This record gives sequence, C-alpha cells and structure tokens, in this order.
Amino acid sequence: MAEAIKEDIVKILRENENPLSVKEISLLLQKEKGGSVCPSTVRSSLLHNSAKDGSCIVRVSRGQYCYGFVGRDDRDVWTWRSQTVVNDDCLHWLREQPPSSIHAIVTDPPYGVVEYREDQQAKLRSGRGGVWRQPPSFDGHRRSPLPRFTTLNGSDKEDIFAFFEALSVELLRVAVPGANLIMASNPLVVHIVSSALEKGGWEPRGQLIRLVQTMRGGDRPKGHEAEYSMVSVMPRSQWEPWIVMRKPLDGTVARNLVKWGTGGFRRISEDSPFGDVIKSSPTSRKEKQIAPHPSLKPQKLMRDLVSASLPLGRGVLLDPFCGGGSTVAAAEASGITSIGIERDKYYFDLAADAIPKLARL
Ligand SMILES: C[S@@+](CC[C@H](N)C(=O)[O-])C[C@H]1O[C@@H](n2cnc3c(N)ncnc32)[C@H](O)[C@@H]1O
Repeated sequence: MAEAIKEDIVKILRENENPLSVKEISLLLQKEKGGSVCPSTVRSSLLHNSAKDGSCIVRVSRGQYCYGFVGRDDRDVWTWRSQTVVNDDCLHWLREQPPSSIHAIVTDPPYGVVEYREDQQAKLRSGRGGVWRQPPSFDGHRRSPLPRFTTLNGSDKEDIFAFFEALSVELLRVAVPGANLIMASNPLVVHIVSSALEKGGWEPRGQLIRLVQTMRGGDRPKGHEAEYSMVSVMPRSQWEPWIVMRKPLDGTVARNLVKWGTGGFRRISEDSPFGDVIKSSPTSRKEKQIAPHPSLKPQKLMRDLVSASLPLGRGVLLDPFCGGGSTVAAAEASGITSIGIERDKYYFDLAADAIPKLARL
C-alpha cells in the first residue's frame, strides 16, 4: 500500500514540471485513481520518501515537492526550482535510475573521452599541455586551449567506442520510448560515437549542423609558416555536428505522443519545423565570465535544442555531462525540468553558481 502510493506520487511529480503542494498532489491522485485520497496519507508518504537517500521525490520548500533525485551522503545534489545537478559519474548515476524516467537527452560529452580525465584536467588547469593545446594566436587574439583529436590512436578510438556503447545502453534504459537524444560531437569522432550509440539500441535520426567558426584547423605547417604561407594543414572548421537519435517508438508517433509525450520535435512555429542547420555564434564573453568552463555552449543554441527536444514541451530532460550548466540553464529559461550530472566537483560547483545567472540572460 505504502509502496503503491509512493509510485503514484512519483508518477504525478514526474509528469508535472513545477513543484506541487500536498493538496495539489492529493487532488491529482484522486482524479487519476478515482475515489477519495486522504491528504495526510500523501503528506506522510512525501515526508518519509523525500528524506530517503536515492529517492526521486525532492522537497523543494515547505510543503512543496517535485520530481528529482536526492543523493547519497557522499554525492552532492544541487536543486533550484525544477532543476537538479548531481555531482556523480553519469554511468554510475544512470545505473541507479528507474527505467523510462527521462523524456529527452541533450548533451555535450567529452568527445574524445580522455580530455576530461582527472590527469588531463590537472594539466589543463596548470597550463602544462597534455591533450589540451594552445592553438597559435589568430589575428593577434590569444585562443583558448582546445583538446586535440588528431592525435587519437587506434586504441583511443576503441576506448571511445566502448565508452559510448556502455553509455548508450544505460541511456536507452532510462529513456522513454520516442525520447530524443541530441549529442554534440566533433567531425573527427562523430562516426565512432554514432556507431556506438546505434549498437546500444538507439535509432539514427540524422545530424544537426551547427554553423560556427570554431577556430579549429586552418593553421599553416608548424615551424614552416612563412615558407608555406599558402598552405593550411586542415580545413578551418566552420561547423559542429550534433548526433540525433531516438529510442524506438511504442507504436505510431501519435500513439507515442499520447502515451509518453515524446516521438517528435517541437516546431519553432506552426509554419516552421525545427531544422537541421542552425546558425550559431561562439559562446559570448559574458557567458564565459559567468561560467568559465572550457567547453561552455551558448545559451541561444542550447535553448533552441532543449525546446526542440520535447515535442509537447513537457517531460524531464537529462544532460549527463553538464559541465558549466548551459543545458540546465537553457531548460530553466524554457520552462523545462532538467537533471544535469557532472563528475568533476570543480565544474559541479561552477554550474551551481552559474545556472541561475545564465538562465536569467
Ligand atoms: C564537453 S564538457 C560539457 C560542457 C557543457 N556543455 C557546458 O556548456 O558547460 C563535458 C563535461 O562532462 C564531464 N564528464 C566527463 N566524464 C563524465 C562522466 N563519466 N560523468 C559525468 N560527467 C563527466 C566533464 O567534467 C565536463 O565538464
């Protein structure tokens, strides 16, 4: 009985983006189940379950509850309005989540896996090289360090495949049928990551092209710049691929929309479907000052992607690699409930500080 009411409450909280009071939850339960529901039973279930480690009922303020996650003692959880950020390894966190509890995934993972490993981050923070390289300055401007993917060898590529295949399986389990997975990538590894995601059970649904001047490539041969002034080693990169996948549908698109609220993309307007080429600017200086993360994505782009990912504008969105929190901030600005996971405590703290400020821009 206690477990049954808890499950009904979790379902109601999950379907509502905003926190609900005990009275509102009781009324919704009554509507759903028929018969009368005693608010004191609901209140005691909420109080009991929201205090438990690992619960997905979060007490946001006195008498107000929402769907989210309460961590174990050794795992920091930050909640603000309908947004949650957890300081954890995403594979570890995903394995503890209930199946079919996430409606969309929008994320920007470590493309080459290695660049956000602890040793590489220590090198980046102390300016001591590793895979992060300072590109030559351009037009007198000093460029920010970038991870180099041209140096990945065969075994690095096998590691990338294995990591994304394991991730794919876990994401598929927590996603509802028809959920969109929109994942940033890089032209040098996009084929590996896409194959791994497909092997894990996701259906390819094309790619988005973000048109952006990234400052990658276009450099002359190192040490021979004057001699080969008309040569660049690689084309100057002017686009960024975003992989689009979908968890297989439960019936037709229409049936899936009714049952799960997923199965398509939100249109920009009645006349304009969401398109697969997005003109975008690099992240603004102002945003980088708010959230100084080396891979911060711009709010404009993230808000477009987050809105498009949920066809009916409702459900829980996940960013398993939340970094400085740009996806979570975009979700808040778009009125969507989201959960971000960040393994690095330094970036977790940074995101917690930055999300409210980015969301207000
Ligand atoms: C490319 S960055 C994301 C940047 C983010 N989109 C933003 O705008 O700030 C990838 C992030 O994933 C984190 N990360 C790497 N591996 C992880 C894992 N296994 N679980 C959770 N976070 C991880 C890194 O620490 C890094 O902050």
